[in-house]
Amino acid sequence: MKDTPINYDIVCEKIKEMKLTSVGKASIREIKRLVDNIETATGEKFIRMEMGIPGLPAAQIGIEAEIEALRSGVASIYPEIDGMPLLKQEISRFVKLFLNINVNPQSCLPTVGSMQGGFAAFLTVNRLNKDKDTTLFIDPGFPVHKQQHRVLGLKYQTFDVYNFRGDKLKEKLESYLKQGHISSLLYSNPNNPSWICFTEKELQIIGELAEKYGVVVMEDLAYFAMDFRKDYSKPGLPPYQPTVAHYTNNYILFISSSKAFSYAGQRIGMMVISDALFQRQYPDLLKFYNSDNFGKAMVFGTLYSLSSGTSHSAQYALAGILKAVNNGEFNFIDVVKEYGEKAKIMKKLFIDNGFKIVYDKDENDLIADGFYFTISYPGFSGVELIEKFIYYGISAISLDITGSERLEGIRACVSLVRRSQFPDLEYRLKKFNEHYGR
Ligand SMILES: Cc1ncc(COP(=O)(O)O)c(C=O)c1O
Repeated sequence: MKDTPINYDIVCEKIKEMKLTSVGKASIREIKRLVDNIETATGEKFIRMEMGIPGLPAAQIGIEAEIEALRSGVASIYPEIDGMPLLKQEISRFVKLFLNINVNPQSCLPTVGSMQGGFAAFLTVNRLNKDKDTTLFIDPGFPVHKQQHRVLGLKYQTFDVYNFRGDKLKEKLESYLKQGHISSLLYSNPNNPSWICFTEKELQIIGELAEKYGVVVMEDLAYFAMDFRKDYSKPGLPPYQPTVAHYTNNYILFISSSKAFSYAGQRIGMMVISDALFQRQYPDLLKFYNSDNFGKAMVFGTLYSLSSGTSHSAQYALAGILKAVNNGEFNFIDVVKEYGEKAKIMKKLFIDNGFKIVYDKDENDLIADGFYFTISYPGFSGVELIEKFIYYGISAISLDITGSERLEGIRACVSLVRRSQFPDLEYRLKKFNEHYGR
């Protein structure tokens, strides 16, 4: 098959140069490098859907607040490990106004991206009880979280939630939790990569089982309020971003600034721990920490060891952004809604050319249009589709690396695709369908 939108021979040559055993199984960063190389060699622009990075400018309020803080001299001063009081206050206000939960500022911690929040939480939570040493991932999920487990030498188990939505989730979860070795559960909501969103019923099931079995729920809200089917943008007014925190006191929330405020570069996120968990004593912690108190172990043990807190100026940036958001002066959802609008158009282009949405429903409702969507094409595995797409100037990742059992699927990220590229996308998908459709 040589009549491809991107020069067939150059693509073959670049794949060979990278010495990849399989393009479809390559990591996100390897695909990025391969596509960079092909773009340089051919002068053609790809429809780049492989990396989940923000495609919008950083929130200006944050930039201004950070510059001002740097000018006033914060760069020379160590920040408090658990965050500066002004920021802790605004995080506490934010979760009240947008999640409708009460958390003391003490239990609201800035972290070096949600990535560090996760690392710190995995490390601490798996030491609370010597018999509970395994994290349960409700997959599909973000591959780096599993890498963090491997780096830490921690155990994990996983299952794909595709066949266990709604009431079926209870029995499935309980089959793991009743064994007594699960320390914690992790999922993202909205979900990376599938963009499914748990319903209130599912969150209630998760929360109630966490209570029953004394398991910590780690809820990753990296795409906070980005289920655009509902308007979560009004501070202090329903509807609120759904959260398990309404159903259990055993929770840690990770709220990233990377996508909601397009602030990925400054590496700042929020870890919000329920007050009950923050205060709780766990004697087994004394093996690793000076205190058996969860909050103290997290702050003065784990976060101190990892980075001694979060960059001072970035904390000012986030405090500035949150203050404006909390006061109703900055509607961040109006800005990121663009992702959902692009997804709607792009999904249609795929469907019109013979593709299917893989994770397509939240119980009875169609899934939202947002940052990611998942697609398949009859007769191909996800890995094969990724390999073929490279010749058509389209890059994405296979669901294979996300813990999904839907091996026919790939994940498409809309953020870096410009609207001006939609005609190219349409042309390339048409060509693909011409070549492979039956
Ligand atoms: C589900 C999920 N969690 C966490 C992160 C990392 O967030 P941060 O940039 O705040 O470290 C991402 C980023 O893509 C993500 O998709």
